[in-house]
Amino acid sequence: MEKRVAVLPGDGIGPEVIESAVKVLEVIGRRFEHTFEMNYGAIGGTAIDTCNNPLPEETVALCEASDAVLLGAVGGPKWDQNPSALRPEKGLLAIRKHFDLFANLRPVKAVPSLLHASPLKEKVAKNVDMLIVRELTGGLYFGEPSRHTEKSAVDTLVYTREEIERIVEKSFELARLRKSKVASVDKANVLESSKLWREVVEEKKKAYPDIEVEHMLVDSTAMKLITNPGAFDVIVTENMFGDILSDEASVITGSLGVLPSASIRADGFGLYEPVHGSAPEIAGLGLANPAAAILSAAMMLRYSFGMNEEAAVIEEAVNTVFEDGFFTADLVEPGKRVLSTKEWTEKVIDEI
Ligand code: NAI
Ligand code: MG
Repeated sequence: MEKRVAVLPGDGIGPEVIESAVKVLEVIGRRFEHTFEMNYGAIGGTAIDTCNNPLPEETVALCEASDAVLLGAVGGPKWDQNPSALRPEKGLLAIRKHFDLFANLRPVKAVPSLLHASPLKEKVAKNVDMLIVRELTGGLYFGEPSRHTEKSAVDTLVYTREEIERIVEKSFELARLRKSKVASVDKANVLESSKLWREVVEEKKKAYPDIEVEHMLVDSTAMKLITNPGAFDVIVTENMFGDILSDEASVITGSLGVLPSASIRADGFGLYEPVHGSAPEIAGLGLANPAAAILSAAMMLRYSFGMNEEAAVIEEAVNTVFEDGFFTADLVEPGKRVLSTKEWTEKVIDEI
């Protein structure tokens, strides 16, 4: 197959971890006889510096001409004082909205060899294997009116039936590829938008009799994520709840540096990026863990290109390298040898 990938390295450690992911894609291309045509574009702070725009038109055009987007991370202290229109994060919000990437997928899976880095007891963390499906283009972060005056501030939480239907359907489809269990998370005891959410889930589940659906309130979900995270398979929820719960879930397996994410729409086009940020304090030092970026590339193969076997080969290679005891600085235990970003990537490539 021939696929075009828009590569947006971004800021901080973004370029380093993306370089690793690109190398891995090239090896996969050779092994499975695919051609990945990678074209590079600017986003975030780097794009502000060169084009005075966190999401330049050329970058949008590049993504439009591609089959998927692979992104590093954006942001850093250099741009923290910029006015709001010139903040690196604006580039991320704009690209998600422009491409209508309504489903944010964050898998969180315990890796046995990394359990030492989990803040939870090993026996609690070891069963974790969940997928959080967060609605990404609606809700509070995009609601109008949004206004700040001297005396008050307003944010608006709006969801249409259609917006809820497509994300709920997506979560049911994804659950079918896993353990067919969906926890739909809302605040239906208080919020009208959550009542509508529950209504839609009840309607939609009729078409998916094989899926076990449970309604949960967001506050009790937050507790259960810590006390019994192994009980979850797929969690589907609205934008802000998903933002918070997915960050909570991201720390239970030990390292931010190993978690990938995907933001996709119905036709398969998607944006793939590590969950972590630009980690400016370690940028350029060869200390960054490239696993999250590499696993994001694997998600791209699976969800945008239908290359399931290729994705599994990458995931297995990453796991094997961890199991063989090779870690970057963020995960290493005292007394063990630390590999640089490049050295660790080479191990994965050798494995593939
Ligand atoms: P961060 O994720 O960049 O860093 C949090 C901590 O984890 C730091 O100690 C960092 O060194 C470490 N870390 C993160 N990724 C790592 C990796 N791959 N390997 C080894 N260690 C890693 O979050 P932070 O510090 O809150 O934000 C830094 C900048 O990144 C800010 O400008 C923020 O706005 C931006 N950011 C961007 C995101 C994105 O592009 N999607 C997401 C989160 C933050
Ligand atoms: Mg967040």
